[in-house]
Amino acid sequence: MSAFPHLFAPARIGRLTLRNRLVLTGHGTGMGRDGGPDARMIAYYAARAAGGVGLIMLGSQQVHPTSPGITGLLTCYDDAAIPRLAKLAEAVHAHGARIFGYLSHMGSATTARPVALWSASAVHEQKYGEAAHAMDAAEIAEIVTAFAAAARRNLAAGMDGIEVHCGHGLLLQQFLSPLTNRRSDSYGGSLENRARFPAEVLAAVRAAIGAEVPFGIRFSADELIEGGLDAAEMRRIVPLLVKAGALDYLDVSAGNDGDLVSNMLHEPPMGLPPAPFADLARAIRAVAPGVSVIHGTRIPDTALADQLIAEGATDFVGMCRPLIADPELPAKAMQGRGDAVTPCVACEQACFGRLFRGRHISCVGNPRTGREAEWPAETPAAMPRHVVVIGGGPAGMEAALVAARRGHRVTLVEAQNAFGGLLRLAATAPTRGEWAQLIAHKAAMLEQAGVAVQLGRVADAALLAALAPDDVVLATGAAPGRGDIAGADQPWVFTPDQVIRGEGPRGGRVAVIDLEDRMPAAATALALHQAGCAVTIVTRSPLVGQRLEIQNFTFMMREFFRRGIEQLPHHACTALEQPGTLLLRNAYTGAMRRAAGFDAAVIAAPGVARPPPAGIVVTHVVGDA
Ligand SMILES: Cc1cc2nc3c(=O)[nH]c(=O)nc-3n(C[C@H](O)[C@H](O)[C@H](O)COP(=O)(O)O)c2cc1C
Ligand code: SF4
Repeated sequence: MSAFPHLFAPARIGRLTLRNRLVLTGHGTGMGRDGGPDARMIAYYAARAAGGVGLIMLGSQQVHPTSPGITGLLTCYDDAAIPRLAKLAEAVHAHGARIFGYLSHMGSATTARPVALWSASAVHEQKYGEAAHAMDAAEIAEIVTAFAAAARRNLAAGMDGIEVHCGHGLLLQQFLSPLTNRRSDSYGGSLENRARFPAEVLAAVRAAIGAEVPFGIRFSADELIEGGLDAAEMRRIVPLLVKAGALDYLDVSAGNDGDLVSNMLHEPPMGLPPAPFADLARAIRAVAPGVSVIHGTRIPDTALADQLIAEGATDFVGMCRPLIADPELPAKAMQGRGDAVTPCVACEQACFGRLFRGRHISCVGNPRTGREAEWPAETPAAMPRHVVVIGGGPAGMEAALVAARRGHRVTLVEAQNAFGGLLRLAATAPTRGEWAQLIAHKAAMLEQAGVAVQLGRVADAALLAALAPDDVVLATGAAPGRGDIAGADQPWVFTPDQVIRGEGPRGGRVAVIDLEDRMPAAATALALHQAGCAVTIVTRSPLVGQRLEIQNFTFMMREFFRRGIEQLPHHACTALEQPGTLLLRNAYTGAMRRAAGFDAAVIAAPGVARPPPAGIVVTHVVGDA
């Protein structure tokens, strides 16, 4: 019997039997071209199907031109979508998984200009900063028809079922929510009226696809905003929607992307606990007897997934980032090789982070994600060589692993007595502990792959001469920098790595001068606060932490405000003067001023690439080196 008997048991959703209860939840991939799947996207989903997941929810398809396919979103406005979707469905089916089409309309939650935006009411949307007009009766009818037509096209393309997006602050939730629905006609006011448009959409889709096809919704079981839809109201709304669409399943999520904190909570970054909405799923399951429940959100491993099904919180478990990190998670878990699963550590960096920069998603722990078409499984090297990797941080470990898996003889030399490089240090900072899982996993994989490891050994010319490699990969990373600030070398000035190691100030007023606007300064500020310091973060940028991924930004802002960490944006620190004074230049006017009274300063500056050791011929450079 499988170690996870509930998760890996076949189960029915409507009239369709899935090979197990693990679902890849819908997500934008930033892949695709002109609103349709491309070779990259097809290879991405095919890899997840091959990895053993039961059901794939395709990234959402926009059903109408008033919700355009920005940032790589799929579109399904006309029949031209069908052949491209069909190729994708075929690639997934070839590996025994099922795939549902996921239909959505963003309403006001988009940057679609110059298209006029449609919503329940003329309410300003926070995330994209746009305002829509209130839809009239003809527009409502047009969108109802568009959802039904898109559902039909998905079936024509061979999709096995349909999901409609009623959550996350998109159009259908804009009608459901009292925050965004201010209408006084039959589509606004009472709960039944606010549910009318979504119910019409669901009834039309069901009529279009027939009774046999599995059909469900994704929705927010709590909007997680003061004055918004709460769990009690959603428990009353859900039965209305189930009835309208004769739904087979409910995919329970939460939140509204128009609010930073609500958005963060349903895409939880590192530092937040697992399974935050399991109780919401349980409560929804109780009001929808006979309807299957899918629930995901930070259910990072198969043990917890199995437990949630066993406890009756949900019927199917959704995973998104864990399957972005490792498409083979189901197969490995089923085979009892859970230690071989690349863990998702909720860093947000290469999935959400890349998507928000307009690039296709990938994963910090798995560079092949999103590049399955270019880098199919490790192929054996034509001529195995002896490869020496210098440096056991993330880049060196990955390079050594890939080389070993391709059949090369690999020696990894690391000066420290442990793997991880600066990431190991980062993992000891407040709220950053999950990085340790990724380091431990890669270390275990190095051993499995047969890499010869020399820890606590400095790679010098003598060692390299003795090893006599064919190739040398330099992965020595970067040393902490101090930027270009006069007075940075004084004893009251520190770097983040010193603070995290516990060698920084233990109290008093401390300025963190951030030259990167990324995590090192933010985590250092938390560590200083924990050590009893009163902290001020200084940056020349308009926002402290402005290069953080949006969920990490929100997480850190909440921590800063909760802990009373002060922020001083718009100012470049040009010099540090005794005693405890920062010379600051306004980023716009150039006006100079002094901020005095600090006991210490910490400079969070970009790292400086370490030079290769003398006398060594390097053939490849990876990471920050
Ligand atoms: C890169 C990325 C894009 C996403 N885009 C969508 C989306 O378009 N629609 C949606 O309903 N959920 C989207 N999600 C949310 C996921 O489906 C899931 O609910 C969320 O990531 C939490 O689950 P997890 O902890 O298993 O990743 C996205 C997630 C990621 C990582
Ligand atoms: S980039 Fe980070 S959050 Fe995204 S899937 Fe990989 S480990 Fe998880």
